[in-house]
Amino acid sequence: MTGPGPTEWGAAASGVGPWSGPPPDDPRYDPALLRDGDTRNVVDAYRYWAREAIIADIDTRRHPLHVAIENFGHDANIGGVVRTANAFAVDTVHIVGRRRWNRRGAMVTDRYQRLRHHDHTADLLRFAAEAGLTVVAVDNVPGAMRLEQTTLPRNCLLLFGQEGPGISDDARAGAALTVSIAHFGSTRSINVSVAAGIAMHSWISQHADMGRAW
Ligand SMILES: C[S@@+](CC[C@H](N)C(=O)[O-])C[C@H]1O[C@@H](n2cnc3c(N)ncnc32)[C@H](O)[C@@H]1O
Repeated sequence: MTGPGPTEWGAAASGVGPWSGPPPDDPRYDPALLRDGDTRNVVDAYRYWAREAIIADIDTRRHPLHVAIENFGHDANIGGVVRTANAFAVDTVHIVGRRRWNRRGAMVTDRYQRLRHHDHTADLLRFAAEAGLTVVAVDNVPGAMRLEQTTLPRNCLLLFGQEGPGISDDARAGAALTVSIAHFGSTRSINVSVAAGIAMHSWISQHADMGRAW
């Protein structure tokens, strides 16, 4: 028998009440949360921790995986990408194009996730080259390799397109490879946030240390 899994933790999604007993003498704990309770959507290990302490702890365990999404129109899916990136301790989520994006789907996970903006795809590609990241475009376009049959680079930047136009020509041209997610039904494409989750999880399956997962 192994220990409880992430859906079997003691604290409900609605959180925990005020700390009972003498408050812990640890600077990571937030006095206000200890006093009032913690209703944030955080894993049990971070209950009552100050946000800065949580970020500092994740920062010690971030993966060499970056995610980028092109935001040249109005894309409401970026929040979902950020939330999944947070779950997988992605290093940074890069937003390319418009600075503004709809944060609703992020469910406040953006507060714990490194975010970086680039005006143009060329700026992102320059960043990736300087950071030693291999850019992998993700889209179901002619010439793409099957994600399911591809070993993703460890130091990796996964680049996603937007609803409608998909990945830009600049992104495709600048990527070391393009991968697509296999489909079996009638739809031409899946939601970009779902595609990003699948691709991120492929990287996690190939490179993450499962002994460090919650
Ligand atoms: C809704 S798709 C649009 C473009 C798509 N190429 C088409 O033919 O309609 C938006 C984004 O989701 C991602 N995506 C959706 N389905 C995908 C798939 N089967 N394989 C890889 N990426 C996919 C890609 O990043 C893509 O740029």
